[in-house]
Amino acid sequence: MAASSSGISAKQDLISQLDKIGALAEAELQSSGNSEAIEKVRVGFLGKKGKLSEVLRGLKDVDPKDRPAVGAKANEWKARLEGIIESRKSEFGSQELLSKIQSERIDISLPSREQHRGGLHPLTQTTLEIVRAFARLGFDVTTGPEIDTEFLTFDAINIPKDHPARDMQDTFFVGPGLVLRTHTSPVQMRTLLAKKWPVRILAPGAVYRCDNDATHSPMFHQIEGLWVDRGVKMSDLRGVLDFFAKEIFGSKTKVRMRPSYFPFVEPGAEIDVSCFRCVKTIDSHCPVCKGSGWVEILGAGMVHPHLFEVAGYDPAEVTGFAFGLGIERITMLLYQIPDLRLMFQGDMRFLKQFS
Ligand code: DAH
Repeated sequence: MAASSSGISAKQDLISQLDKIGALAEAELQSSGNSEAIEKVRVGFLGKKGKLSEVLRGLKDVDPKDRPAVGAKANEWKARLEGIIESRKSEFGSQELLSKIQSERIDISLPSREQHRGGLHPLTQTTLEIVRAFARLGFDVTTGPEIDTEFLTFDAINIPKDHPARDMQDTFFVGPGLVLRTHTSPVQMRTLLAKKWPVRILAPGAVYRCDNDATHSPMFHQIEGLWVDRGVKMSDLRGVLDFFAKEIFGSKTKVRMRPSYFPFVEPGAEIDVSCFRCVKTIDSHCPVCKGSGWVEILGAGMVHPHLFEVAGYDPAEVTGFAFGLGIERITMLLYQIPDLRLMFQGDMRFLKQFS
């Protein structure tokens, strides 16, 4: 009897515990604010180590014939709680999905970010245009070092020790017998020393002079040209420059040669082109030609025999012409740029106008 009465009380005890726990779980489920909280309640009550299983461990103390009633009660709660869990989870699930979609939404109506496209620097553009023009006449591009010997920069191309170009104020001396080249003309001698004639080269590159104002920069760019072969004449120089001038400044451009002196050529000339801005009538206020109708663009001449002798050529066998031009000067003329320094400041407002 004792066993049976204790069995009854054990049964009643378990059932009331199940009711308490079930009601507690139900209350917690109802007050849970999201699916994560629901899941926590589920594990806490219905999980393997949950409160429900804990209570059912007391089943061993219940009379075997009473056990089904306790089991039925436990199943009843289990089913009830699972039902609530399912409906709350689906309620939160769709809510949460909706807010996830909203927070991760991509606004495809926004305009795209601006694409920055690079462009070539105006000096590079001018260099390429000039190189292209001369390439059509069979000139190859070559280069020389920016630090060169005093010998190749001056002596070998007939610029004697007392020449003003070698003055301390003009030249950057960087070591014994070494200078930052003041012009691209040493490439003439390098080419003559390195190759056998015929040569037809164009040598663009940076040059350096101790000078700095609105029209001079301590670093600027030149292009040297050299054509050496049997029977090259001054009229060939004229023809080549004529072609170049028309390619760069327009088909109506005329070329004028004025006698001048450069140590590495004889005879030497300064080359002007007819003003490409005052094509029809000369404008007396023209910013390009200042009303003269002509613009100086480069120096040129017939290669001095001294250069051939230094290079081991026979001046009786070959002749040639050379020319040198400033890329900044041509660029400034072409685009009417008032200040040389604009080209070295990297200011996008300036550079964008050329892209
Ligand atoms: N080297 C000269 C300078 O820097 C430019 C020059 C003039 C180059 C006449 C030449 C030339 O090849 O024949 O001013």
